[in-house]
This record gives sequence, structure tokens and C-alpha cells, in this order.
Amino acid sequence: MQDGQKEFCVLILAAGKGTRMRSKTPKVLHKIMEEPLLYYPLSELRSAGFNDISVMVGFSGERVEEWTREQFPEVNVLWQREQLGTGHAAKLAQEWWKDFKNVVIIPGDTPLIKAETLRKFIDVHIGKNNKCSFLSFDLSDPAGYGRVIRDGLSVRIVEHKDATADERKCREVNSGMYVFDTTALSDVIDHLNCMNSQKEYYLPDAVALIEKNSGRTDAVKASDPAEFLGINDPNQLADAAAVMKKRILDKWMGMGVRCSDPLSTWIGPRVSLGEDIEIQPNVQLWGDTSVGRQCSIGSYTVIQDSVIEDNVEIIGSVRVKKSRIGQNSVIGPFVYIRDEAELHNDVHVGRFVEIKKSTIRRGAKVPHLSYVGDADIGERTNIGAGTITCNYDGEKKNFTKIGSNCFVGSDTMFIAPVTIGDNAVTAAGSVITQDIPEGALGVARAKQKNIEGWSSRRKIHKGGN
Ligand code: UD1
Ligand code: MG
Repeated sequence: MQDGQKEFCVLILAAGKGTRMRSKTPKVLHKIMEEPLLYYPLSELRSAGFNDISVMVGFSGERVEEWTREQFPEVNVLWQREQLGTGHAAKLAQEWWKDFKNVVIIPGDTPLIKAETLRKFIDVHIGKNNKCSFLSFDLSDPAGYGRVIRDGLSVRIVEHKDATADERKCREVNSGMYVFDTTALSDVIDHLNCMNSQKEYYLPDAVALIEKNSGRTDAVKASDPAEFLGINDPNQLADAAAVMKKRILDKWMGMGVRCSDPLSTWIGPRVSLGEDIEIQPNVQLWGDTSVGRQCSIGSYTVIQDSVIEDNVEIIGSVRVKKSRIGQNSVIGPFVYIRDEAELHNDVHVGRFVEIKKSTIRRGAKVPHLSYVGDADIGERTNIGAGTITCNYDGEKKNFTKIGSNCFVGSDTMFIAPVTIGDNAVTAAGSVITQDIPEGALGVARAKQKNIEGWSSRRKIHKGGN
């Protein structure tokens, strides 16, 4: 080891097209639990404290690079313009990994790997003083995977497509995860060739070459095959999603979250939940969402990238997107809250209401059949049924400001931009086009006229025409 050389770096191979996905989207950006495959190994590595990580991108690499830079800015991005195989990808990263003592190489299409498994694996590599170690596992149906062929103490990997009928019977397979001593890998990386059925440079071939150079190599057998499921087609994508879904739910239920129907509950990997939460059937929580303590979330609710504070009751059939709901609020049923809406504490929003990019201040109520968009509703104001903020004039969005302690009569239309002072009232059915001063009543509707005797003068055709 040279002076100052760091022990470990991790290279994630993510340049492949993923032909078997039959999709224009690069394989590692296909999603499970609403996050791209690549999210999973990167977040495991981040939480385990690995610092020096590179991702090798290639097929639709601009998209993979953009996502990586946005979500994991600390990660280095390398390019494999032509995808000539995993061995070729490892070679292209040599300039980077040669400055470390060991390089851990893992595929970007294996999202179920746990950091603690990688840690244990690395410990074995160090403990045994190996030049090359790779993780293997047993599969009852090993089709598609590289087979681990052991011959006495020697071990090599044969790809499924290159294996003989006898070799294909072998159930021990290569996970695609390796630790290499960088000097040993440098000695063999230029000797890989592409004389195989796929005409690709195979990284697994480096194992046999290192052994030939008398470097100690070892297949470290892992106990849980589920961690190594490689995603190559839509079936495997769905299988991995099912494992991840259960893993996340088990974690939260282990921490006290009560889920009455785990099978229909979907909680994304970035969601965080407080204590004493109750979740009814058919709920989805996605993205960067957090739910505080003592909340209950009713059926058919979808929450995405939002903050739900403590003691909120979501009655059901509610959609919340990029918004915040303050403590002790009661929401639903049939509510859509979106685009940076801010509901402060003790707010009630319910029954067929849409709130968009608005602030609803403490204790305010929007209980029935309303649209509130680009608005600020003051404290303790009550918005009557059927109220609409008419925010769009066909060109731009305009703002409605309603003060505190206002009483907005049912079916009020606010033609924005408009400002309503504190303690103001609107008469039901008003179309408000002008500001209302503090404490005033705004009436803007046609005066009622009663026509005496109208019904007796009217011809009534009983039973239709
Ligand atoms: C690979 C292994 C196989 C192992 C299996 C485990 C090889 C040749 N075979 O097969 O032994 O059992 O993983 O899942 O390595 N990639 C690149 N550049 C390339 C080719 C691939 O970056 O030129 C990336 C892919 O994006 C993918 C990973 O390497 O994330 C593995 O490639 P893939 O084509 O899925 O290899 P497998 O056939 O699954
Ligand atoms: Mg694969």
C-alpha cells in the first residue's frame, strides 16, 4: 500500500442498456417503490458511511448522470461510451480506482443488497488477505446467472450463455459483487478478452486470471439469495419491488406503526413515520414524505413529498402532493392538496375540496366543495360551501387574500386579484370583484324579485309534454 493510499472505493456498474427490459429508459432508472434501481445501492452505501463512490454510466448516460448529480451529489460519475462488458467498464474506471488499495465493484441492477452484508463481505476479504473475493449464493433456478465452478481450492465463473450443460446444473451463482486488491486487478485487467458468446469483456474472468497469478481468490457464500436478485426484465423488477415493499413495511411495523392491511399499503424508502400511527387499507406514501406522531391515515390516500405534522387525521380518499399539513388538522374525505400548499395547525379541509399553492392559517375551515388556489386564508376564517377563488384570467394566476375571522358565504366567487379585510363577511352567492374592507359585508348578487301568483298563471302539463 502506498503512503496515504485510501483503503476502499466502490464502483457501481450502471452503463448497460438492459436489453431484456425492452425499454428506452436505462435499466438503473427503472423504479421500484417509486425510486430508481440505482437509488437503493447508493442509499445503502451512504448510510454505511462509504465515501468514495463512482457510478459508471453509458446507455442514456445523460439521464443517469443528471439523476445521480441531483440525488447523490457526492458521488463521482464516470462514462463508458460503448458498452463492451463489465470487464471493459471496470477497465475504464482504472484511473480512478488505482489510487485506492481495494475496489468494491457492484452492479447497479441489484437493489436489494444491504450495506451490512457488504461490510461483512469486505471484512472476510481483509481477514483472509484475499486479492479477489466475490459474493456467491445458491439458487434453485440459476438460469441467466454466472455459475461458480469450484475445482478443489480453485474457483472460476462461467457465464450462463457460455456454460456447458453440466456447468449449468451448478446452483451456486455469482452475485456480480466483488472486492479486488487494485494492484492484483491492474495486473490482469488488460488481459481480459471478449472471446465468448456475448463478445463482451467479462469482469468475472478477472477472478480466474488473478488466481492464475497466484493471488488468493475466494467465493464468499451469502445466506440470503433475496439480496442479490439482479433485475434484468420486468418480472424481476416486480419481484424486487415486492421484497422491498415488505422489507420497508416490516421495519415500520417493528417500530409500532399499525397497518391494518400490509398487502395494500405502500411506503416508499425515503418516507419517515413517527410513533403511534395508524394506516388503513390502500394507502400509498411516497417520496420525501414525513408523517408525525399519532396520525391516522384513511383508506385510498396517496401522499407524496409532503409533511404531515403530529396528530393529523386524514379521513380518507385524500391526495397530498408537495405540501404541508399542520398539527391537529382534520382532512378529508375527497380532498386534493397540492403544489406547496401550507395548512397551519388546527385546520379543517374536507369533502370535495381542492387546495393549490395556498396558505390556510390556524383554525381556518374549508369544509365543503371548494377550490382555493393561489390564496391566503386568515386564522379562524370559515369558507362556505361551493366557494371558488377564480385565480386564472386566461393568462396568469392571480392572488386572493382573505383576512382572519372572516365568514365567507356559500357559493362566493372571488375574482382575483382581490383582498378581503379581517372580520369581513360575504353574502352567499356573491361574485366578489372588488376588495372588501375590514369588518364589512360584501354583497354582489342580483336582488331577488318575487312575482305574485306566478304558479297559478303558468300552464302546468302534468306527466310531461
Ligand atoms: C452479471 C455477471 C454474472 C452475474 C450477474 C449477477 C458478467 C459478465 N456477468 O450478469 O456473472 O451472475 O451479473 O446479477 O458480469 N454493465 C456496464 N457496462 C457494460 C455491461 C454491463 O456498466 O458494458 C452494468 C449493467 O448496467 C449492470 C451490470 O453491469 O448494472 C451487470 O450487467 P448485466 O448485463 O446485467 O449482467 P448479467 O447478465 O446480469
Ligand atoms: Mg444483471
